[in-house]
Amino acid sequence: MDSVGLANYETLEQFIIERQNQFPMSTGAFSRLIRDLSVAGKIVNRDMRRAGLVDISGATGMVNVQGEVQQKMDALAHSEFVRALKRGGECCLIGSEEHAEAIPLQTNNQEEGGEYIVLLDPLDGSSNIEVNVSVGTIFSIYKLPSGVVEPSLDDALQSGTEQIAAGYIVYGSSTMFVYTTGNGVNGFTLDPSIGEFLLSHPNIRIPHQGTSYSINEGNYNSFEEGLKEYIKWMQLTDPVDNRPYSTRYIGSFVSDFHRNLLKGGLYIYPSTEKNPEGKLRLMYEANPMAFIVEQAGGLASTGTQRVLEVTPDRLHQRVPLYIGSNDMVLAAEAFLSGSRLHTD
Ligand code: AHG
Ligand code: MN
Ligand code: MN
Repeated sequence: MDSVGLANYETLEQFIIERQNQFPMSTGAFSRLIRDLSVAGKIVNRDMRRAGLVDISGATGMVNVQGEVQQKMDALAHSEFVRALKRGGECCLIGSEEHAEAIPLQTNNQEEGGEYIVLLDPLDGSSNIEVNVSVGTIFSIYKLPSGVVEPSLDDALQSGTEQIAAGYIVYGSSTMFVYTTGNGVNGFTLDPSIGEFLLSHPNIRIPHQGTSYSINEGNYNSFEEGLKEYIKWMQLTDPVDNRPYSTRYIGSFVSDFHRNLLKGGLYIYPSTEKNPEGKLRLMYEANPMAFIVEQAGGLASTGTQRVLEVTPDRLHQRVPLYIGSNDMVLAAEAFLSGSRLHTD
């Protein structure tokens, strides 16, 4: 029997090389960087698939720079990505959720030096691992500004519009690598039997309107009035626009985002009493996903501003986030500004 039509699928590596060939000046450095990230993703995936059997689930006993309990898998994923990027030699600076400061890299390519900055959430949704729920990795890539000899955090604090690529890996019922370089969004599914990511979701487009929203509604009492109005509106019955909408909240941003990207929907992490700035981090959660969603035809807003245009001032900065289907983000902004009420 034919090996279930696998011959028709392009591997991530082939895809990258083809794209690279479209740019005659390309040195291949960027392609190698994406390959390094995908290899780290495969290693983390392998480790994760054994969680529960080997001693890698549960907390490390440490609290990370965000004041959050660090899981063993957070630390492990962080080390795997740092190791892969160091070995690959294309990255000169890493910013990670699991490390307070930016990490300059001594690369193997000392004469050349890596020219890319990678900002990472090595493991997103990590508290879900123990209960066997999908988690992910998020990455954002910038170019080191020209002329910089010793890369530092300042070089990484560029606004999201300057990203040259962004992506995520979702370790779900299958493992997927989804990324953009500003030329659409493509998704690759890991075939574990051959250890390759295969192009399974070319040119992903997010529906303009979805019928589900993702928010931790336990925080409802501390939401601002406009958001409460919007939620009430989404819960009203109106067959014209398929309301009431459904709530779908996994509590792993990557997984919630991935579902909404494919099916349409809106993910919200607003300002709350506990997290007045929102909970998600601008540089390695909101910005990369904002780049991806825009490339897929969706929007990402803080509620009042395009996420990609927020000026960053620190690596671990948080930002309120409304991200997903175009019409749903626009509606959220209208409710937040008070120009719409749930009775409209
Ligand atoms: P991380 O595991 O990288 O710290 O991120 C957790 C984030 C995100 O994945 C998720 O959507 C959100 O936290 C859930 O927060 P609540 O438990 O407050 O809803
Ligand atoms: Mn996260
Ligand atoms: Mn994380």
